[in-house]
Amino acid sequence: MERFSGTFTQQEPIPDEAIAAALRVMQSGRLHRYNTLPGEISEAAALEEDFAAQTGARYCLAVASGGYALGCALRAAGVVPGDRVLTNAFTLAPVPGAIAALGAVPVFVETTEDLVIDLDDLAARAGQARVLLLSHMRGHICDMDRLMALCAARGLMVIEDCAHTMGAHWAGRPTGRWGAVGCFSTQTYKHVNAGEGGLIISDDAALMAKMILLSGSYMLYDRHRAAPPPEAFADLRLTTPNVSGRMDNLRAAILRPQLRDLPRQAARWNDRYGVVAAGLQGTPGMALPARPAAEGFVASSLQFLLPGWGADAVQALLARCAARGVELKWFGAPDPVAFTSRYQNWAYAPHPALPQTDRVLAGLIDMRLPLTFSLEDCALIARIIRAEVSAVFQGAATALPPAGGAD
Ligand SMILES: Cc1ncc(COP(=O)(O)O)c(C=O)c1O
Repeated sequence: MERFSGTFTQQEPIPDEAIAAALRVMQSGRLHRYNTLPGEISEAAALEEDFAAQTGARYCLAVASGGYALGCALRAAGVVPGDRVLTNAFTLAPVPGAIAALGAVPVFVETTEDLVIDLDDLAARAGQARVLLLSHMRGHICDMDRLMALCAARGLMVIEDCAHTMGAHWAGRPTGRWGAVGCFSTQTYKHVNAGEGGLIISDDAALMAKMILLSGSYMLYDRHRAAPPPEAFADLRLTTPNVSGRMDNLRAAILRPQLRDLPRQAARWNDRYGVVAAGLQGTPGMALPARPAAEGFVASSLQFLLPGWGADAVQALLARCAARGVELKWFGAPDPVAFTSRYQNWAYAPHPALPQTDRVLAGLIDMRLPLTFSLEDCALIARIIRAEVSAVFQGAATALPPAGGAD
C-alpha cells in the first residue's frame, strides 16, 4: 500500500538573496524602520513601494501581522465598540477576532458550496452594518463584480482579507484592489514568508494616513514613500491614537526578493493544485469546489467536500489518510483543532445558526499544499485520498439498506 512521507507544514528555505539582504540589515544595526541615515530609504519603506507597484495600489503600509492589518483597517474605517461588521462565517479566527478586539460585533454571512460568501444572504443582511470585512478564505474568491455592485448599492465599505490571496485576482484585478482597503499576511504559512507580518494597500489618502499613524509612525510619517502627502496627515496627526504594530527592516528585507519571485511561485502552487485536483476529479462521494474562469487563484491549499457524509465516516477517512501519511483537516469538527475552528467556536461573537454554512462545513476537508511537495508527491497524495474516500464511501453505501427495501 502506498504511503506518503512528506511534511505538510514544511515551507521552502528563505531564498539566498533574502538571507543576504537580512544580513545587511543586521550588520547595519538599523532594524527599526525609522532608524535611517540621512537620505537612506529603509527596507520597510522600499517594501511598501514595491508592493504598491506590484498591486497597482496608490498606497501601502507594512505592519506586524495580517491580523494587525485587519484591525488597523477597521479602526481607520471608523468602526467603534458596538458597531456591527459583516463578515464570512467560513473564515479563520483572526477575522472575527479583529472585529471583536475593537468591541464591535461580527455578523456572519452564509457560505456557498464553492466556499465563498453567499451574496444573496449578504444582500439580506446588508442593512445591519456599514462595513463588510470580506475574507477570501483559503483563496476562494467570490464574484467580485457582483459583490462590489451590491455593496455600492447598500453603502457598505469593503475591507478585503487577502491573507490567502496574495498574487491572486478576479477578472484581472488583484484582490485587495476591489475594496477600500486590502489586507495581506506575510506569516510563514502564506504566499511569502517573513515569520510574521502584514501589508495593507489602499487608494484612499485619508484612510491610509490614519492607518500609518495608527501603526505607530509618531511624527515620522514623512519617511513613508508609498504614502499620501503631508497634508493628508494634518488633521489626523494629533487625534489618531498610536496602536503600535510596525514592520521592521529585517522582515521587510526578507520579503522583497520573495515578492519579486511571487509570480513564479504562484505558478508552482497552481501546478501542485492542478495535479491533486485532477487526481481527485470524479471520485464518487466527493465534490471539488468550482473555480470560475474569472478567478485567478493562487492555491497554497486544497479543499474538497464530502456532501451528506456523517461525522463517523469523515473521521474514519481522516484516520485512514493519516495512517498513510496524508494530513487532512476537517472544518466540521465540533471542537477547534490547531488552526482550524468554525464560527460556533468563537463564543465571544453572537452566532445564530447558519444552516447552509453548517451543511457545507460538515463535509469540508482542508489540506495544505506546501511548495516542498513535488508534482509526484501531489499525484501520490491524490491517489491515497481517492482510494480512501472510495473505500469509506463504498463501505457506508453497502451498510445502507437496499434502495426501496425498507418501509
Ligand atoms: C483568513 C485569514 N485571515 C487573516 C489571518 C491573519 O494573519 P496573521 O497570522 O498574519 O495575523 C489569517 C492567518 O492565519 C487567516 O488565515
